[in-house]
Amino acid sequence: MKRIAVIPGDGIGVDVTREAMKVLRRVNETLGRELEFTELDWGAEKYLREGITLPPGAFEMLRRDFDAILFGAVGDPRVPDNKHAAEILLALRFGLDLYANVRPVKLLHEKLCPLKGVGVNDVNFTVIRENTEGAYVNSGGVFKKGTADEVASQVEIHTRKGVERIIVYAFEYARRHRKTKICMSDKSNVMAYAGDIWQRCFKEVSARYPGIQTNHLYVDALTLLFVRQPKDFQIVVTNNMFGDIVTDLAAALQGGLGMAASGNINPNGVSLFEPVHGSSPPLAGKNLANPMGSILTAAMLLEHLGLGEAARAVEDAVIACVNEGKLTQDVGGNLGTREVGDAVAGKI
Ligand code: NAD
Ligand code: IPM
Ligand code: MN
Repeated sequence: MKRIAVIPGDGIGVDVTREAMKVLRRVNETLGRELEFTELDWGAEKYLREGITLPPGAFEMLRRDFDAILFGAVGDPRVPDNKHAAEILLALRFGLDLYANVRPVKLLHEKLCPLKGVGVNDVNFTVIRENTEGAYVNSGGVFKKGTADEVASQVEIHTRKGVERIIVYAFEYARRHRKTKICMSDKSNVMAYAGDIWQRCFKEVSARYPGIQTNHLYVDALTLLFVRQPKDFQIVVTNNMFGDIVTDLAAALQGGLGMAASGNINPNGVSLFEPVHGSSPPLAGKNLANPMGSILTAAMLLEHLGLGEAARAVEDAVIACVNEGKLTQDVGGNLGTREVGDAVAGKI
């Protein structure tokens, strides 16, 4: 029995997670009920009602009682400082030590790509984003706030342990997926201290994997080449903030944020799977959101739990729907969120 915690969160997180669950329930019927789901109501609604973001003991409970977490998205205009998102999603990434954010970038049909003449063989790479440090540690401060002399600092933290383990993760990921090339991306021409630790770690770890080719790109050049030559990439490893930014760009190559899946992985603990997109308040509750990113995220979760055949069945069902144009409006279709979920589930 595999126990899965389901956190739909806010906005379209709720809409898309409902469809991913529809697909997972269908998978579960074919697996002989091997999966057990528990829904958790963490998000803006609970925060506004009870003042609670993560309930006490949340990390221990997730580690003890669950094999994986399926997450929707958090973000609500009624919480302008996004406090609950930091205290839920970022806190889970830190508290469960989900240090590898794995974001596959795979074009499923050429009609989804906004670039001319780019087909499914040209866009198939994975971004491995460091997920527990860098610009996300919220270190810094303010001085003389509200005066003309106001000062703010926002400090990035890059630890030897943190940088080394994400680079090792990228090489191990490459080996497991029979990939032969890794690109490390940073901004070491300007951010010299962080750049130095990333550069040295990358060189040292590379030397342990002689079968894997490596190269380095400054992150500004990386964004250019994602658009100009996406085919050049197999695995990209980068820091937390750059990984966040470049994966929205990379999502566009696949058809947009509605198609992009991700896993927040702790190789030695419970991991959390979520689509790359946010809660998109304007689309929420309107049967407009694209559920494919969340459904492909569910496939990643299945793969992670050792249910590779079930994962492939979900991916194949998504590809079949894409080929048949059973899609939401953002990717050129005319179906609603629920109808796309039905179509995918119907193919399992
Ligand atoms: P967003 O991802 O919600 O939306 C960006 C754009 O992509 C919008 O135009 C949106 O309509 C579109 N889009 C996103 N997902 C889509 C889908 N499934 N189908 C169709 N279109 C889709 O990002 P944002 O607008 O910058 O942020 C909205 C809120 O979500 C903010 O509060 C933000 O902090 C939060 N957020 C949360 C997560 C997360 O929980 N992982 C990720 C990103 C943003
Ligand atoms: C993502 C999101 C989050 C991030 C936000 C919601 C904190 O943009 O998962 O890509 O910046 O990591
Ligand atoms: Mn993001």
